[in-house]
Amino acid sequence: MQRKKPLVQDYAAYTTEDFHVWRLLFERQMELLKDYASPLYLSCIEKVNFNATEIPHFGKTNALLKELTGWQLSVVPELVPQKEFFELLAQKIFPATCWLRTMAELDYIEEPDMFHDVFGHVPLLANEAYANFMEGFGKLALQWIDVPEAISLLGRIYWFTIEFGLLGNGADINIYGAGILSSIEECRSAVGVHSKKYDFDIDTLLSTTYRTDVLQDKYFVIASFEQLYESLAEIDKIVRGYIDVDIIQKYAAPVAK
Ligand SMILES: [Fe+2]
Repeated sequence: MQRKKPLVQDYAAYTTEDFHVWRLLFERQMELLKDYASPLYLSCIEKVNFNATEIPHFGKTNALLKELTGWQLSVVPELVPQKEFFELLAQKIFPATCWLRTMAELDYIEEPDMFHDVFGHVPLLANEAYANFMEGFGKLALQWIDVPEAISLLGRIYWFTIEFGLLGNGADINIYGAGILSSIEECRSAVGVHSKKYDFDIDTLLSTTYRTDVLQDKYFVIASFEQLYESLAEIDKIVRGYIDVDIIQKYAAPVAK
C-alpha cells in the first residue's frame, strides 16, 4: 500500500479518519489495559498526557519527557537501520513514525505505525528505570554492533522485554511490552491462560527463539524495571559467553552504562 510517511509531524495534515482511528484504537486498548497493563504504564499515559481525542503532538510530548527523564522523540518515516536505532537510544532519543494506519487496517498492520510506536513505546519513557534501561541497552548494543551473533542475541532481549515483556509477581502479572500494549490480539494472548510465562532469566531468554509473524505465546516476567536496568551487565557477560573468543578479542569493549 502506498502511503505518506512524513519526515516531520505536520499536525494540520492529520485527517478526520486519522483522528477517528486514534480514538478507536486508544479507547479499545485502554478498555483492556485498565485491567491488564502495568499500573506504571497507566500512570505514564497520564504523565505524557495521551488521550483519545488528541493524536499525540510530538512537540508537546517532548516538552513533557524532557522534564521527566530527558528523553525525546524524533520522527522517522519507518523502521530505521539497527545501528542508527541503537545510536539514537544511546542518546535518549526514540525514533517514532507519525503516520497512522487506516480504518481498513485497524486490527492488523505489518509495519509499525504511530499507534504502535507512540502509544506502545513512548509512555514508559517517562519512567526513570525503564528509560535508563533503554539508554543502557542502546549503548550495550553499540558495543556489539559489528558482531551479528551478539546483535541477534540482544534482539531477543529487546523482543522479550521492550516489545513483549510482562511485569509482576505470582498471580499479579501485568503488561508493559509495546507489542502487547498496542495490539488487542496480543493483549488477549498475553493475559490468556494458554501462553507460557517464564521468570526473567537471561540464560533462558537468550536460548529462546521467537517468530515475528504469529501471535506470541511465550513471555518473560520481570519483577521491576530496576531489575531490568540492573541486568544490563549480566546480559553483556552472558552474551560474551556465546561469542567466539577471537571475535571478542577483536571487538570487546567495556560496557558503558
Ligand atoms: Fe516496537
